[in-house]
Amino acid sequence: MNLLNLARRIGREVREAVAGALARGGADREVGMGADGTPTEAIDRLAEEIVLTRLREAGDFFVLSEETGSVALAEEPAYVAVVDPIDGSYNALHSLPFYALSIAFAPYSEGASLADVCAAYVLNLYSGDEFTAERGRGARCNGRRITTAGAPELGRATACVYTTPQSIDLLLPLLRRIKRVRTLGSAALELCHVARGDMDLFVDVRTYLRNIDVAAAKLVLREAGGVVTSLEGERLNASLLRIERLNLVASRTEELHCQVLHALRRNFK
Ligand code: IPD
Ligand code: CA
Repeated sequence: MNLLNLARRIGREVREAVAGALARGGADREVGMGADGTPTEAIDRLAEEIVLTRLREAGDFFVLSEETGSVALAEEPAYVAVVDPIDGSYNALHSLPFYALSIAFAPYSEGASLADVCAAYVLNLYSGDEFTAERGRGARCNGRRITTAGAPELGRATACVYTTPQSIDLLLPLLRRIKRVRTLGSAALELCHVARGDMDLFVDVRTYLRNIDVAAAKLVLREAGGVVTSLEGERLNASLLRIERLNLVASRTEELHCQVLHALRRNFK
């Protein structure tokens, strides 16, 4: 099965439906509670229903998705699909043109984790920019290869940063050293922009980000040459079968990554 072609077909349909729903109004109506404990809005439900319907038609998937949580669409799934139907729902509902559909695929197994993702698809639902990656075959934006090459030194870096009042102290040594901060409200897309070299770093220290937000974009960034770890510099091994929260540091290069971890470590304990 060509997983990326399937994702592209789903992406086209979701994009059209989301644009239509936003234009009609009422997209922000709360229609229930998501599996992650946050309210589900009509727009999230609409996008998720399209994805689930198309995956059910296409084959043997186990799905982990933001609103529904875990659902086996087949008795013996061949793949797990990790879906964020709209990453950046707030942006979508407030006419901020930065929100995405994110789908990551991995071979199904009971121990499937972020490291097993083999194909990734992130679609900016506003602009139509499409980021894709296949493990071992590089990353692309709108079909063109992207790489993280040519990163600046830390003092000239642009970082996407997510923090809370409780965790801000942890970040201060890093904030003192970088050049600028941009926080745009869709982690999946922000990581893809690090992959394309538009931003240099992504640091989230809230322990609030979910595996579904980043499963696809992590592969895009890795395949573009970037580095992604936990705050402690360890490999991310969150499960793909249930929603889990994590901290994350991502950089265009190993060198930047070491400098970031060093700055953060000064404040551990
Ligand atoms: C949100 C975005 C945002 C991140 C939040 C996520 P959602 O996704 O990724 O960048 O800071 O933690 O919840 O809720 O719009 O799918
Ligand atoms: Ca979402």
